[in-house]
Amino acid sequence: MRTPIIAGNWKMHKTIEEAVAFVREIRFKLNEIKGVDKVICPPFVALAPVKELLVPTDIGLGAQNMYFEEQGAYTGEISPLMLKGLCQYVILGHSERRAYFGETDEGVNRKIKAAFAHGLTPIVCVGESLEQHEAGQTEEWVSGQVRAALDGLTADQVRSLIIAYEPIWAIGTGKAATGAGANAVIGLTIRGTIADLYDQATAQAVRVQYGGSVKPNNIAEFMSQPDIDGALVGGASLKPDFVEIVRISAEVKGV
Ligand code: PGA
Repeated sequence: MRTPIIAGNWKMHKTIEEAVAFVREIRFKLNEIKGVDKVICPPFVALAPVKELLVPTDIGLGAQNMYFEEQGAYTGEISPLMLKGLCQYVILGHSERRAYFGETDEGVNRKIKAAFAHGLTPIVCVGESLEQHEAGQTEEWVSGQVRAALDGLTADQVRSLIIAYEPIWAIGTGKAATGAGANAVIGLTIRGTIADLYDQATAQAVRVQYGGSVKPNNIAEFMSQPDIDGALVGGASLKPDFVEIVRISAEVKGV
């Protein structure tokens, strides 16, 4: 059985002071909810102070990006060595990084391998644009992203990572996908591609989240789908709504 996992992607929001105040506000309420893995992904500078606040809880911590080299002349970058020991997860290949910062499938694949080399669990983002969605290219595009991301990984590595299916047209737009629509892409395309590349057991073991305008009022629709194991939450993870989303997820999955 796959343990549900809800992750909050804060993106470029909250100062250190704001991050600390917010985590103090939600941490024990969040921690009370069992049976669902909970992860918070603040900006890099807030990771260390938030880590301290999470010590008395079982809430996981993640970064939002990482470079694949361990160290060197890469001004402005953060390496897996720096994240190791600080957090357990790292979001890789988010569509905003692909769109605004030139991330490629190949770079994302190198980052995933670097994360594994240092014991970090990648949350790998894939998803199609509105144009691709409307042109009926979702399956081909998402399958291609999955193939490129997983290139050269062992089945054990694939089973332990997390994939976030985030249709770009649903991110930050208030227009979420439907539960059935997201379930079809996750079940048929994402798990189907993994079954093709590895085997059915691996495809069934990997946890896949939905992301894009997830809110307390639509999370139940996603969590009630058989192939959706959780959510990557942006805007709503900046507010106490995040606790509500986790609580509803636990209820719907009956854990
Ligand atoms: P959103 O963002 O929930 O604000 O749509 C999701 C994401 O980009 O991870």
